[in-house]
Amino acid sequence: MNKSAVWGNYYSNGYLPWDTKAPSSHLLYYLNQCPSLIARKGNEDIFIPDCQPVKGEYKARQGQLLHICPDCQKMKPSQGLQTNCLELACGTGSSCIYMAKVFTMGRSIGLDLVAEAVSSSRSLAAEEGVLHNCAFMQADVFSLQTPGTRWDVEAAWALSQQQHKDLMELSAEASSALKKEEDIKDDSRSTRRSPPTFRAHPREATEMAVHTSSTSDVPLHSDAPPKPTYLFDFIYDCQAFHALRHVDEAAYLQLLHSSLKPGGLLMLLTGNANEPDCGPSVLTKQDLLLAFPDSLWEWVFLVQSRFDATPAYVAPGRDRLPLAWWGLVRKR
Ligand SMILES: C[S@@+](CC[C@H](N)C(=O)[O-])C[C@H]1O[C@@H](n2cnc3c(N)ncnc32)[C@H](O)[C@@H]1O
Repeated sequence: MNKSAVWGNYYSNGYLPWDTKAPSSHLLYYLNQCPSLIARKGNEDIFIPDCQPVKGEYKARQGQLLHICPDCQKMKPSQGLQTNCLELACGTGSSCIYMAKVFTMGRSIGLDLVAEAVSSSRSLAAEEGVLHNCAFMQADVFSLQTPGTRWDVEAAWALSQQQHKDLMELSAEASSALKKEEDIKDDSRSTRRSPPTFRAHPREATEMAVHTSSTSDVPLHSDAPPKPTYLFDFIYDCQAFHALRHVDEAAYLQLLHSSLKPGGLLMLLTGNANEPDCGPSVLTKQDLLLAFPDSLWEWVFLVQSRFDATPAYVAPGRDRLPLAWWGLVRKR
């Protein structure tokens, strides 16, 4: 089975053991509170962020969610509210949407391999009223930097918008084709009926739209002189690195590094080998230090933590949430 089918199966079966359906408490803590407290912990301590997302509450506080004080200023993205964020392998999108609410004057872009994940993320972003500065795209992280392909904030935004537009057009075409079919049937029966209210099945439409956009000439691929790049200020990776390193660690690390501006920040949440029996794929501290070497990255903090609860993580037989590494690194 190929990787799209493997990950796609989770979504089509509705079994997402990692999915909290909310922005992660680690991201909330880092953005809303003072992470200087985390940096003071040794990396053998377990630091549990004492905040949980309250649905609706952060909607009301949109734009006032970023805490910056003299103690943590250097640990926060230097662009303030204009921070451009990327979430790789964003799943159902809650954390990316949260970043869009915090960084109201920047763009937050999420991407995932699975069309269903992207379409749920888009629906949620529409519901949460952030489509003006939050976008989602379906993409394989390993296909973003193929030769001749531009990859930065602007290119990612353009591709997300193009995919969204294709989807809308496809949906409208499907509605109009069905209406025509119904009209023909009506005519042939010579009876009068009210117009049909068909909508393309979201998943079908997304998959077809993605196919269309990957073959169409999105502004990423061009023979025109290269445009200046606008790299990301902040990348959020929750349970992506620990899965994708098994596909091609070097390529994924290269993507992380080259997507960020110098001085840009990457937040990581990965499985932790100190409790290998419980939860997601795991790494040792040494694995992380080797993957993010001093020559390219500066560790701002690296502590142990626990993943947020999901039904799978609190299933009978589990007496604790999976142990995580929670880290922040700065691109040199
Ligand atoms: C463990 S889940 C984490 C999802 C999300 N970050 C979260 O914490 O809820 C891993 C995600 O990676 C996505 N994924 C797997 N391989 C990918 C690839 N090559 N490119 C982009 N996304 C990928 C999957 O579809 C899945 O949504």
